[in-house]
Amino acid sequence: MLTVDVKIPVKFKPLLTENYRYKLYWGGRAGGKSFAFADSLIIKARMGKFLIACVREVQNSIKDSVYKLLKDRADYYGFDDFKFYEDRIENVLTGSKFIFKGLKDQNSQNIKSLEGVDVCWVEEGQSISKKSWDILNPTIRKKGSEIWISMNREEENDPIWKALALNADERTLVVKVNYYDNPYCSSEIKYLALKCKAQNLEDYEHIWLGAPVKAGDNKLIAVKDVMKAFDVKICVSTSPLVIGVDIARFGDDKTVFCYRRGRYCYKIDTFSKLSTVDLANKLTQVINEDKPKRIFLDLGNTGAGVYDILKDRGFGKIVRGVNFGSKAINDDRYVNKRAEMWGLANEWLKSEEGVQVIRDDELLEDLCSVCKSYDYKGRLQLESKDKIKERLGRSPDKADAFVLTFAEPVYDCGKVQKVGFAGVDIESLFRVKTTDGW
Ligand SMILES: Nc1ncnc2c1ncn2[C@@H]1O[C@H](COP(=O)(O)OP(=O)(O)OP(=O)(O)O)[C@@H](O)[C@H]1O
Ligand SMILES: [Mg+2]
Repeated sequence: MLTVDVKIPVKFKPLLTENYRYKLYWGGRAGGKSFAFADSLIIKARMGKFLIACVREVQNSIKDSVYKLLKDRADYYGFDDFKFYEDRIENVLTGSKFIFKGLKDQNSQNIKSLEGVDVCWVEEGQSISKKSWDILNPTIRKKGSEIWISMNREEENDPIWKALALNADERTLVVKVNYYDNPYCSSEIKYLALKCKAQNLEDYEHIWLGAPVKAGDNKLIAVKDVMKAFDVKICVSTSPLVIGVDIARFGDDKTVFCYRRGRYCYKIDTFSKLSTVDLANKLTQVINEDKPKRIFLDLGNTGAGVYDILKDRGFGKIVRGVNFGSKAINDDRYVNKRAEMWGLANEWLKSEEGVQVIRDDELLEDLCSVCKSYDYKGRLQLESKDKIKERLGRSPDKADAFVLTFAEPVYDCGKVQKVGFAGVDIESLFRVKTTDGW
C-alpha cells in the first residue's frame, strides 16, 4: 500500500474505514462532500485494484462529471501514479479504474458495464430519478460493493432519500454534513451562509442546512421565534432553576440536560454513553451544586431506572418523571404530554415580554423540525419521533430536553410562602398529582 498524507474530515472517515452497502452523505451547500468523496476514492484507488463508477443523473459530457475534481485532487497531492484518459482515469500501479456515467439515458442493457463495480459514487443524489435508481441499485452487485451517495436535499420525497434514509437499516450509513462541519470551509462561504441566515431563514435552512423545500409548511415552531430568542439579552434570572433531561434512546442519541430559569434558558449539556448509574450520579451532582427546583426526566428508555435511583436517594420532590405519551394537564388543548410541552415551549418562545435561549444551531434545527396537526377535537398533536428523526438525520434530543422544562408549572417558593388562614403554601395550590403522590 502506498503511504499518503491526506486529511479527510472526521465525519467522512467511514468512507474508507467501514463497510456499508450504502453510504449516504447529505446536507446543505459546502459541507465538503465532493472533496471528501474525491479524496477518499483517490486513496482507495491506490490501495488495491478497484473499479470505481462516478455517476450522476445527467452527464452530457465528461465536463459535467467529477472527473476534473478527481484530477485536481490527485494533482494537488502530487500523485503521479494516475493516468488521465479522455473518458476515464487509471492508476498505473494498482490497476484501479474510474469510469463516468450519466444515468438518465441508460437502460438496463447498457448499464451492464457497471456490474463489476466496487464503489459507485452517486453525485448530486437529489437529482436521481426513481427510474434511474431502480436500474442502478441492483446493477451494483459485486460482492462487497458499495454505493456512496453525496446529496443536498431538494424535496421531502427525493427518490434516493425515500429509498435509503427513510428506511435506513444496519447496512446503510446516513450522515448529515453542513458547512460548519467542513474544516476547510472558506470565510467567503461562511459569510454567504450567515448573510443568507440574516436575510431569509427559510432559504438558509434549505440552502445551508439541507432542509427539503416542502418542509416548513406545517411546522410548530417558527425559525424566527427561536432566532429572536437567541438575540434577546436577559443574562440573569432569579427564577427557580428547572432542568429538562432527555435520555439517550439508542447508541447514536445523546443524553441532554437543558437548564432554564424563567425567561432564560442558559445552558445545554450533552453526554453520550452514560450508564443508568453514571447518569444518576451526574444528576445527584447537579442537584447538589446547581440546586434546581425541579428536574423533569424523560421516563422512556432507561429514564425510569435513573428516576428510581434518584428517588431512592431522597430526591423525589425535585425529580419528576415525565411520560411523553401520558395525558396532558390541559387535555382539552393537547393530545398528550409531549404535545403540551412542545405547545407551551412554543408559546414561551412567542411571549411578548421576551425570552432568551442560549445560541445553539442544533437546538434551532431540532425545534423547527417538528410538524403539527390537530385531532378531531382540535387538540394539538405532533408528528411521530421516528418521522422527525428520518427528516433530521438524528433525534431532536436538545429540543426534547428543552421542552421538558415545561412539563409542569414551577413556582418560585424557595422560602415556603404561607397564604391564607389554612397556611397553605403557594406551590401546593398548583400541584399536579403524579404517580409518586405529589
Ligand atoms: N480537503 C479539502 N481541502 C481543501 N479545501 C476543501 C477540502 N474540502 C472542502 N474544501 C473546501 O470546501 C468547499 C466545499 O466543499 P465541497 O465542494 O466538497 O462541498 P459539498 O458538500 O460538495 O458542497 P455542494 O453541496 O455545494 O456541492 C470547497 O469548494 C473547498 O473550497
Ligand atoms: Mg458537491
